[in-house]
Amino acid sequence: MSSRYKIQKKLGTGTYGVVHSAIPLHPLPSNPPLVAIKRILPYPVTTPKNLQHSYITGGVSISALREIKIMRELSLHEGYLKLYDVFRDEGGAVNLVLEYCETDLSLILLKNVTLPLPLLRSLFHTLFLSLSHLHSLSILHRDLKPDNILITSDRKVKLGDYGLSRYKGYEGMSWEAVTQWYKCPEMLMREGFYDGRIDVWSLGCVLLECFSSPYLFRTAAEGDVLQLKCIFKVLGTPGEEYKNLPGGVRGLKWKGKEGEGLPKSGDSSFDEVLEKCLKIDVKERATCEEILEMEFWKGEKVGLEGYL
Ligand SMILES: Nc1ncnc2c1ncn2[C@@H]1O[C@H](COP(=O)(O)OP(=O)(O)O)[C@@H](O)[C@H]1O
Ligand SMILES: [Mg+2]
Repeated sequence: MSSRYKIQKKLGTGTYGVVHSAIPLHPLPSNPPLVAIKRILPYPVTTPKNLQHSYITGGVSISALREIKIMRELSLHEGYLKLYDVFRDEGGAVNLVLEYCETDLSLILLKNVTLPLPLLRSLFHTLFLSLSHLHSLSILHRDLKPDNILITSDRKVKLGDYGLSRYKGYEGMSWEAVTQWYKCPEMLMREGFYDGRIDVWSLGCVLLECFSSPYLFRTAAEGDVLQLKCIFKVLGTPGEEYKNLPGGVRGLKWKGKEGEGLPKSGDSSFDEVLEKCLKIDVKERATCEEILEMEFWKGEKVGLEGYL
């Protein structure tokens, strides 16, 4: 791959590439013993060999360039994943050399451990603070989910994967962002303009998954309408004002049908955070800053030690 890094093991695979751990063979700022190298191909990983060449001649994908630009900006700020280096390899792929993280939240959830509220408090307080700062820089993350929430070896939690991130209002905002289970109703229904509250919804879904299983919003099949039905089953069906939106759900009775409700934790301040993140009506949903002002964060916090 490069004479400057010795590849160790595979850490993860995404749509456009693979992430490996690697030992740097030349000095990097702060001398990390290990880094993660995210290799972004100009074509989806599943592209057949004989078609790969046609993409490579097109050069570097615009989304890789965006990811680099955003990560470079964030590297200047405390608390974000560091981007140490960028290089292009002989295969036409762009390689991002990143701060190495020991695990991600999806792997912790796979262990089926119960994460107590003081731990969720410290974890999500950091996440909402990072997200709030991201939004203040006019960046929308647009792909928050457990796989993209990384945990460093010194137990710091960081937002990862800026592959779908965008500067707000700077360019066209497509609906083709955010993984289905974490996608907010206004994106599923193609309601018009969206803002940072799409990320608040996603982080609310992640918080819900950390606190209760089975996972309420994980639909078994693909499709925006299926996902909406799944959300309405829990949160209730909203009024008719949504009925004629392009992504509208056909065959539903649109008159405030009650949902099963979100699970209760026994701590009303926690339940309020979940409710404020998971409002179907975006006007009622809290912004990141409003979430950070809520009572819940004032309670006891414990670190991740012992849960990895
Ligand atoms: N800096 C890192 N350190 C350790 N593992 C990482 C790092 N970045 C990504 N990974 C792992 O690789 C997976 C895919 O990386 P990600 O940036 O999310 O790429 P994609 O855009 O392909 O989803 C992540 O879910 C995570 O498990
Ligand atoms: Mg990812």
